[in-house]
Amino acid sequence: MLFPQLALAFATFAAWSLAAPSEFLLKTTGSNITAHNNLYVEAYHTGAGMADAVLTTVTANAGHFYLNETYLQMDIGQEFSYGFDIGGATNYAAWEFVTINAGQGYPGFELENKSTLTYNSTEFGGWLACDWWHGLPQLFWIVAYEEGTVPFPSTCSEVDLIPAPISS
Ligand SMILES: *[C@@H]1O[C@H](CO)[C@@H](O)[C@H](O)[C@H]1NC(C)=O
Ligand SMILES: *[C@@H]1O[C@H](CO)[C@@H](O)[C@H](O)[C@H]1NC(C)=O
Ligand SMILES: *[C@@H]1O[C@H](CO)[C@@H](O)[C@H](O)[C@H]1NC(C)=O
Ligand SMILES: *[C@@H]1O[C@H](CO)[C@@H](O)[C@H](O)[C@H]1NC(C)=O
Repeated sequence: MLFPQLALAFATFAAWSLAAPSEFLLKTTGSNITAHNNLYVEAYHTGAGMADAVLTTVTANAGHFYLNETYLQMDIGQEFSYGFDIGGATNYAAWEFVTINAGQGYPGFELENKSTLTYNSTEFGGWLACDWWHGLPQLFWIVAYEEGTVPFPSTCSEVDLIPAPISS
């Protein structure tokens, strides 16, 4: 009985050591609203394999992210991962949902200058944090060509997302 357990432990360790060096938390910075800074992206479960991107002070609840090419993946300690999805700009709204769902998600994410998470699209106008329906600030993305058509609610603020070490 000892050997299978040892093999499993070793396999887990091997998977962890492959993934760990490039994994990071995603932290908010640069907000006008002080309470929207130094928050970490957390996947808030909304259904089977589906989550909204919310923002928490609790690092233990924060997602562990990594980039696979330009897919932003969340490591959930399983063989499959969750991926960042950008809600479609389909309804003339000035900001849209960000979700984290089972699977690879959408391509196009990058750490610009190795320091700021951006989505490589002319539609992308930045990240927005809003006090919203999960009781935690929620992450949205700003639709560049609609920006300014509707003022952001006073409980929303623009934020940058930067990688932070998992130990922090
Ligand atoms: C990265 O993406 C490739 C191709 O889409 C996939 O086969 C591989 O499992 C992914 N690796 C990780 C660590 O997510
Ligand atoms: C990345 O660096 C370039 C050149 O220094 C600068 O113009 C750009 O604003 C930077 N982008 C971010 C998101 O900081
Ligand atoms: C952004 O997307 C364009 C068009 O899809 C592509 O040509 C360009 O290389 C991308 N830029 C980066 C930095 O990935
Ligand atoms: C910060 O607040 C000022 C005043 O309310 C506003 O004009 C500005 O657009 C805000 N900036 C950001 C990045 O949200």
